[in-house]
Amino acid sequence: MELSLQFAAMAKDVNINKVVRQHIEMNEFFAGGFVPIGPNAMQEQTEANEHTRDVINGLAAIADEVRQCHKCGLGSLRTNAVPGEGSPNARIFFVGEGPGADEDATGRPFVGRAGKFLDKIIAAMRLKRSEVYIGNIIKCRPPGNRDPRPDEIINCLPYLQRQIELINPEVIVAMGAPAAKTLLNSTKSIGQLRGQFHEYYTGIGRPPIKLMATYHPAYLLRNYSKENRQKVWEDMKKVLSELGLPIP
Ligand code: URA
Repeated sequence: MELSLQFAAMAKDVNINKVVRQHIEMNEFFAGGFVPIGPNAMQEQTEANEHTRDVINGLAAIADEVRQCHKCGLGSLRTNAVPGEGSPNARIFFVGEGPGADEDATGRPFVGRAGKFLDKIIAAMRLKRSEVYIGNIIKCRPPGNRDPRPDEIINCLPYLQRQIELINPEVIVAMGAPAAKTLLNSTKSIGQLRGQFHEYYTGIGRPPIKLMATYHPAYLLRNYSKENRQKVWEDMKKVLSELGLPIP
């Protein structure tokens, strides 16, 4: 069922099973009764809807906590915290470093110059921004856009880890050294880490999530060479291929 229908159902607090049944019946009607759904389709759809609702609620709870967070000094300096945004069913989770001035002003991730460039990368992958999830290692802007300090990262990281666990994406794209090194607990440079899949673990007994490290869009803007853009595109092609999506 389309996400818009799920939201409509949740907003009106109607019986989600009824909505799913009506949706399937309508599909059958317009397809002349030849809709290729198996005997368990409705049950599976209902479970998927319930899962999506749980993820939406979980993400909203984390966002509330982030907006009230004062675990580090950045909490009293921010205009807005930037919890992250995107699809609860995202197959790709993009992770950046932390909010800049535009993100601090709006409370949304990647809306400034680097964000516009990220939008282009996502569009080049033939994806919509609303289909992926976008978050950061730290959720509040460091003054003057300085690098996040280790204590700030340590305090903030659990929010991102919980978001990743909830969404359980198939691929994480870590953009830039702070994101890649933090998530992989590595001291290697972004040049060494990028271009290959790594494994990100959310817990013992849970399968690892594939993680692709790549250059940060802001780095690409500062070092705007064909070679650098080509490298990021090579990394994104590997992501598409991993997901079985067409490579434009
Ligand atoms: N740079 C980041 O790393 N994150 C943002 O949200 C914006 C710019």
